[in-house]
Amino acid sequence: MIPHSRITITGHKGMLGSQFYSRLVNRLPVQAIDLPEIDITDRENLRGSLFDFQPELIIHCAAYTDVDKAESEAEKAFQVNALATRWTAQIAAEIEAQMVYFSTDYVFCDTPGVVPRNEFTLPAPRGVYACSKFAGEQMVRRFQPQHFIIRTSWLYGSNGKNFVDAILKAAAEKPFLSVVTDQIGSPTYTSDLADQTLRVIEYGDFGDYHISGNGSCSWFQFSKAILKTAGIDRKVYPISTASYNAPAPRPAYSVLDHLALRYTVGDDMPHWRKSLTHYLAERKTV
Ligand SMILES: NC(=O)c1ccc[n+]([C@@H]2O[C@H](COP(=O)([O-])OP(=O)(O)OC[C@H]3O[C@@H](n4cnc5c(N)ncnc54)[C@H](OP(=O)(O)O)[C@@H]3O)[C@@H](O)[C@H]2O)c1
Repeated sequence: MIPHSRITITGHKGMLGSQFYSRLVNRLPVQAIDLPEIDITDRENLRGSLFDFQPELIIHCAAYTDVDKAESEAEKAFQVNALATRWTAQIAAEIEAQMVYFSTDYVFCDTPGVVPRNEFTLPAPRGVYACSKFAGEQMVRRFQPQHFIIRTSWLYGSNGKNFVDAILKAAAEKPFLSVVTDQIGSPTYTSDLADQTLRVIEYGDFGDYHISGNGSCSWFQFSKAILKTAGIDRKVYPISTASYNAPAPRPAYSVLDHLALRYTVGDDMPHWRKSLTHYLAERKTV
């Protein structure tokens, strides 16, 4: 059980924030911040809300997360992911609230080699989204030293747009699918990430953590596993990143090594295949 008595969750309606909200809301006083009620880019409103509630911990999940759209909305992406994160960190320091910030494997976009990236690997972000999330990390490090910065990857779960749901939808509508095969990463179920994050907070050792599903795959392999686990027979063709031609650059290899987790709370993240089975079973029951 985490030791805090009052918790703020930003982005509590989103894919990850909703996991924290559902776990904590019946256990202790929780302040929920999201659009349209509170816009974290409205500094005075954010400040007033946090000062009124006086949380001991802020789990900051609100973010601009549209990787491709960010390329044409750079100012908005930096406003939400960097500037509003700076304000959140500054206010957190003033009211002595610890802070959790979520970042992304995409900070390793231009990192060479195919060795899993640990918390001490130098980031090399490229693209607006990755750069804005990395800027957010730096804001948190600078303004609220009592932080947990958690990098994660390829999130899926309820309450948000995600790859698993997109593949199932496409399979229902199309005779065959084409999926990128030259990007390797680790799918992460938001439910597992929320559980593991709460254990990290409870352990209380501030710093950087990589938390993702264990194991790795390409998007192509992931899509085949999704269809197979869901019992859907649909042909999937591998295509290259270049032929997919998305607006934002993405890392060819961004598997995260959980070094900090192993040497602190312990790495309890399940293999991505096991989590996928859980999510699809849960999705069926909803
Ligand atoms: N999704 C992934 O694959 C992935 C991978 C690695 C890291 N991450 C990071 O993990 C965290 C959680 O991601 P997620 O996928 O759960 O995101 P999400 O589903 O997009 O949720 C983000 C939430 O924040 C809200 N929000 C956006 N701008 C806001 C603002 N100005 N004021 C208040 N609330 C605002 C969004 O509202 P609207 O929906 O109305 O905009 C949404 O409810 C983010 O920091 C993200 O960068 C995600």
